Amino acid sequence: MESKRIRLDRYLSAQLGINKKDVRLLLAQKRVLVDGEIANDIQWVIDDFTHVVCDGRELQNKSPSYVMMNKPVGVVSATKDDQHKTVIDLLDRADKHDLHIVGRLDLNSSGLLLLTNDSRWSRRLMSPEHKVPKLYRVTLENPMSEEYISAFAEGMYFPFEDITTLPAELKIISDHVAEVSLVEGRYHQIKRMFGRFRNPVVGLHRVSIGGLVLDEALMPGESRDLNIEDLEVLRCHV
Ligand code: URA
Repeated sequence: MESKRIRLDRYLSAQLGINKKDVRLLLAQKRVLVDGEIANDIQWVIDDFTHVVCDGRELQNKSPSYVMMNKPVGVVSATKDDQHKTVIDLLDRADKHDLHIVGRLDLNSSGLLLLTNDSRWSRRLMSPEHKVPKLYRVTLENPMSEEYISAFAEGMYFPFEDITTLPAELKIISDHVAEVSLVEGRYHQIKRMFGRFRNPVVGLHRVSIGGLVLDEALMPGESRDLNIEDLEVLRCHV
């Protein structure tokens, strides 16, 4: 996902269809306000959420949205789908088509899903270098043994991608239920890891991302904006 940070002169030139010389003139004539201040430096860098006004006309006025959803099973983590209902269809908010998904869940997985219109925030949260932990509760068809713990901790080789998974923490809660913490998000990763033991996953629920826990007041399909405390929990990752 592309970061939307851009130099003010490039932005104005593209938005207004004028050349750089005319942009300089606009600024010299104090006709541009950036976040309420007269813009006088073409090198200023703005982003999607900078308020820009030219000659009293608003060119950009968007506020960031950060949403958590309790994704139900059977709904696709996508913005469009021909066959299934999408998580966007479940939202009832004016800006829903501006939002994108921060780390998908499979069709038959449930739990914490984040959505935002802030691509810098989502990119950092999902970037492999940041190693943000994601906690899942997994229900299995067959009982587990202690050897699963070391196999998850050592990492597993996936020949298709030619990668070895990063160390993952597996905690056995009961014979058929485990908690797994991953710092990456490979395709069907948890199902494939349990697949090594020929143990099908029958339930997969994401409990938290980077320490932010799904609000238990949210019923499947419900969502709410992140509050200041939620954003604070994630601040160290973004
Ligand atoms: N691992 C999976 O296999 N599926 C998910 O939805 C998330 C992690």
